[in-house]
Amino acid sequence: MRIAMIGTGYVGLVSGVCFSDFGHDVICVDKLAEKIDMLNAGEVPIYEPGLDTLMAKNVAAGRLTFTTDLKQAVAGADAVFIAVGTPTRRGDGHADLSFVYAAAEEVAQALTGFAVIVTKSTVPVGTNREVEKRVLAVRPDAPFAVASNPEFLREGAAIDDFMRPDRVVVGVENEQARQVMEDIYRPLNLRETPMVYTTLESAEVIKYAANAFLATKITFINEIADLCEKVGGDVQAVAKGMGLDKRIGGKFLHAGPGYGGSCFPKDTLALTRTAQEHNAPIRIVETVVEVNDARKRQMAEKIITACGDKVGGKKIAILGVTFKPDTDDMRDAPSLTIVPALIGAGAEVSVADPEGRKEGEHLLPGVSWADDAYQAAAEADCVAILTEWNEFRGLDLTRLGQAMRGKLMVDLRNIYRPDVVRDAGFDYVSVGRP
Ligand SMILES: NC(=O)c1ccc[n+]([C@@H]2O[C@H](COP(=O)([O-])OP(=O)(O)OC[C@H]3O[C@@H](n4cnc5c(N)ncnc54)[C@H](O)[C@@H]3O)[C@@H](O)[C@H]2O)c1
Repeated sequence: MRIAMIGTGYVGLVSGVCFSDFGHDVICVDKLAEKIDMLNAGEVPIYEPGLDTLMAKNVAAGRLTFTTDLKQAVAGADAVFIAVGTPTRRGDGHADLSFVYAAAEEVAQALTGFAVIVTKSTVPVGTNREVEKRVLAVRPDAPFAVASNPEFLREGAAIDDFMRPDRVVVGVENEQARQVMEDIYRPLNLRETPMVYTTLESAEVIKYAANAFLATKITFINEIADLCEKVGGDVQAVAKGMGLDKRIGGKFLHAGPGYGGSCFPKDTLALTRTAQEHNAPIRIVETVVEVNDARKRQMAEKIITACGDKVGGKKIAILGVTFKPDTDDMRDAPSLTIVPALIGAGAEVSVADPEGRKEGEHLLPGVSWADDAYQAAAEADCVAILTEWNEFRGLDLTRLGQAMRGKLMVDLRNIYRPDVVRDAGFDYVSVGRP
């Protein structure tokens, strides 16, 4: 199969690299020349474990190339994947589809023979039919069919998720296009990956429903954690007791500072907007969005309260600013709400994050950056863990305490056992635990 991948962000680049590893010929396109220059120089513009090695292997095998020339990439392709961003549209919370439609129109002009135009970006229901219309408007004779192939990978575990997905969802209503999609994903047959073929609309809804459900699970356990704090329960014990019920499952039941990242916040919001527009409001997700937004602000308050209600003149060391570990992605990270609130309340903030600095430097003005947790904690009154990077899980608490002025740890990811931290002489505050 010959594949053109439009957009080389977190999803496009991982998908392009993995498809080439399946044995397909892949040309990845981006309109950012500096990104393509980096890729052509063998550098990976994002931090994603294992991506550099897999990319180098497939470039060396001659199956993977990078270009800014969309026309050349699309010519002769069996499938053209659109993997551009669909951020929140300013003002109304809908998904901004301008990048998707612009890419589709460019693709229309570049088609040379039959190709499937596959939307991999997360797009609201109805978008694939609109893509079809717009392609036909640009080129009424265009030889193509559309397919919806939403992506479920997680940043930080993206390659494994792509290579061993729980399922692949394909919305397709044209036999020839379905055949192309079957051929592209054939290597996953070996692993007996379930392939879910549906209509375009169902595929589009599946993606939003799945993300909204996971976001709901997180928000649910966060509110249970709040209750535990009031009544003396332990949310980790509660989550375990709940999660062992197979109908519930233990995943996504970790209480924390609220979900962030490039998907859940924008997708939950976009789903509520789509549903309202169709007069079928999803009130449970509307509430999830509200509760999660408020939670990020509450977490700043939690830190301030732990510091004795005043942080003016105090130094707070923040461990982790990316929205989760093993990524450099800062989009909608809780840190973007919490850190400015602490600075606004008068705190001096130092930050350590293994990969977050490049993105974080312009997003978090006014903080000082440290090389590691101990440097960040020097003379600090409080250490607050916002992201559960592995290197923060096994800190030498004696060394940490010695570096600090005060001895307070606020662990918003519950990565430490309260007795261990308290035995090391710290005041310790976590989420939903005594
Ligand atoms: N990031 C994730 O973990 C994840 C997971 C599943 C689904 N998704 C969805 O996948 C889509 C892409 O997300 P992302 O995080 O990879 O986005 P991203 O912002 O990291 O990357 C998008 C890329 O597309 C490029 N681009 C935009 N218009 C283009 C055009 N016309 N031609 C060529 N390149 C163009 C941009 O320059 C950018 O490099 C979104 O809809 C997102 O919701 C993301």
